[in-house]
Amino acid sequence: MSKIRKILNKKNKSKIVCLTAYSKNISEEIDKYVDITLVGDSLGSVLYNYSSTRKVTLSEMINHSKSVRLGVKKSLMVVDMPFKTYTTKNIALKNAKKILKETKCDAVKLEGGKKIIKQVEFLIKNKIPVLGHLGLLPQSVKGKFKSKGKTTQEIKQLMSDALLLQKTGVFAIVLECVKTPIAKQITKDLKIPTIGIGSSVHCDGQVLVTDDLIGLNHTNIKFVKKFSNVKKYINSGLKKFAFEVRSKRYPTKKHSY
Ligand code: KIV
Repeated sequence: MSKIRKILNKKNKSKIVCLTAYSKNISEEIDKYVDITLVGDSLGSVLYNYSSTRKVTLSEMINHSKSVRLGVKKSLMVVDMPFKTYTTKNIALKNAKKILKETKCDAVKLEGGKKIIKQVEFLIKNKIPVLGHLGLLPQSVKGKFKSKGKTTQEIKQLMSDALLLQKTGVFAIVLECVKTPIAKQITKDLKIPTIGIGSSVHCDGQVLVTDDLIGLNHTNIKFVKKFSNVKKYINSGLKKFAFEVRSKRYPTKKHSY
C-alpha cells in the first residue's frame, strides 16, 4: 500500500502524527514516531532568525531536505514550497519537479486555496502529490499572526477552499490556527484528512515544529506544548566537556592516539 493511501486510510480511524525536521539527526529520531515528516519553511525563523518565511529560498529548502531524507526510512516526507516558487502553474511545476528530483521527497506542500488552485491542479495532473495548507498562511502574513474562522466571510472562504482543494486532489490539508468549530466542521465535511496546528483536537491529525515541542526553540505561541527540555541535556554535556578540558581530565590515554 502506498504511503499516501496509508495516510488517507487513517481518516476516522486513527490520528495522523506529523512533525517537522530540518536535518538528518532529527529526522532519524522523529521518523520512528510520525506518519509524516515535514520539511517546513518554518526553518527560516527557527534556524535563521528570519522575520518571515517569505525570506526562505528554494535552495535552502532543498539543502535541508537532502539532509532530512537521509534519516527518513518509513514516514511520508513532505517539503514546503517556499514563497514565490509557485506563482504560476509552470513555475510551480518546474520547482516542484526540482524539489522531488533533488530531495527524493514524496510530496510538496503549498499554502492557499482558490488563489493557487491552478498550480495545485497542474502539479496533481503531473503526478506530484500535494498537501494543502489553509487558515493562517505564514507566507501571506506581513504583520501579526491571527487565528482564522472568526468572521462569516472567513468561514465561507475556509469551507469553500477546503472543498475545492479536496476536489482538486490534495491528499490532506493542514489547518493552521483555525477556530475550533470551523476546524471540526471542515474535518467532518471532508473525505480527506485534516492535520491541525492550533486548530483543536477535532482534526484528523496534528503537526508541530519539533524544535518547539522538544524545547530547543523558545516560543510563546499558544498552541505549542513543551514535551521535553533537550536544552537541559545539551547543557549538561557541554558543561562537563568544558570542565574536563579545563581541568585536564579529558582527553585521557583512551581518547588519544
Ligand atoms: O513551515 C512549517 O513548519 C509548517 C507547519 C508548522 C505546518 O508549515
